[in-house]
Amino acid sequence: MQGSGKSKISEKLADLTDSVQGSQAWNSIFRPGSIFRKGYSDSPRNRSYVIMNSVLYHLHPVKVKRHAVKVSYTLCLGGLSFFLFIMLTVTGIFLMFFYRPTAAQAWDDIYALQTSVTFGLLVRNIHRWAAHLMVLSVFLHMARVFYHGAYKAPREFNWVIGVVLLTLTLLLSFTGYLLPWDQLALWAVTVGTNMMGYTPVFGSQVRFVLLGGAEIGSNTLLRWYVLHVLFFPFITVIFMAIHFWRVRKDGGISGPL
Ligand code: HEM
Repeated sequence: MQGSGKSKISEKLADLTDSVQGSQAWNSIFRPGSIFRKGYSDSPRNRSYVIMNSVLYHLHPVKVKRHAVKVSYTLCLGGLSFFLFIMLTVTGIFLMFFYRPTAAQAWDDIYALQTSVTFGLLVRNIHRWAAHLMVLSVFLHMARVFYHGAYKAPREFNWVIGVVLLTLTLLLSFTGYLLPWDQLALWAVTVGTNMMGYTPVFGSQVRFVLLGGAEIGSNTLLRWYVLHVLFFPFITVIFMAIHFWRVRKDGGISGPL
């Protein structure tokens, strides 16, 4: 008696699972090949689908060359640069909750962040160290790519995208440098913008646009803040997406030496 009650419940559960898995809503979320689809079987075709249809996996091709997954080939420097960028984004968002980009408040906010915000000093230091490390890892990644001759056809375009990414990484680093609004930042940016003032023909205009005036001040801070937290990260994400897409389209990473 009890056994037939149990089997009725399991029959009902099976019916429910069938109707949920057969619904349009379910199948619009779980694409063909997903283990959550009705009648999934562990076939080579379904395994390919898992990679092709998943956002999380689609960075990797269905088939990967043996040397490409060796840490000793890429030293994971591109992946490390990407990881550091994600880390900078997460810690940067945290810092934004406590920082106001005005000449009157910026330095006080940074000081308060370090002295009275829980984990403030830790997160600020993670952000700073990750920024330094990203410059280093992007540079080493470029050196690795050069060593393997991966700048040659068919990867020339991705090399150019890489050069743009290196420039963006340096610009992100430099714009972030001004934000603490301390003596070091003020003078570093004064020296930097003075150098840019020597640009041929448009020198003084370039300097004026970068400073938001004739000399460094609140306008400069606001300008560099917007560039640092919005403009450059946004452009970097777009170029990273093209960079990763090209690695795939150029046939995965280059062959062994
Ligand atoms: C934000 C900076 C960058 C990120 C996040 C990034 C990320 C990546 C990743 C994940 C790969 C896959 C293989 C690997 O990890 O080595 C890759 C490959 C590649 N990257 Fe970058 N990269 C960046 C900057 C650069 C720079 C500065 C250059 C050169 C100027 C460059 C040129 C290339 C090339 C040519 C490949 C293909 C390498 C091959 O086929 O062996 N990348 N990048």
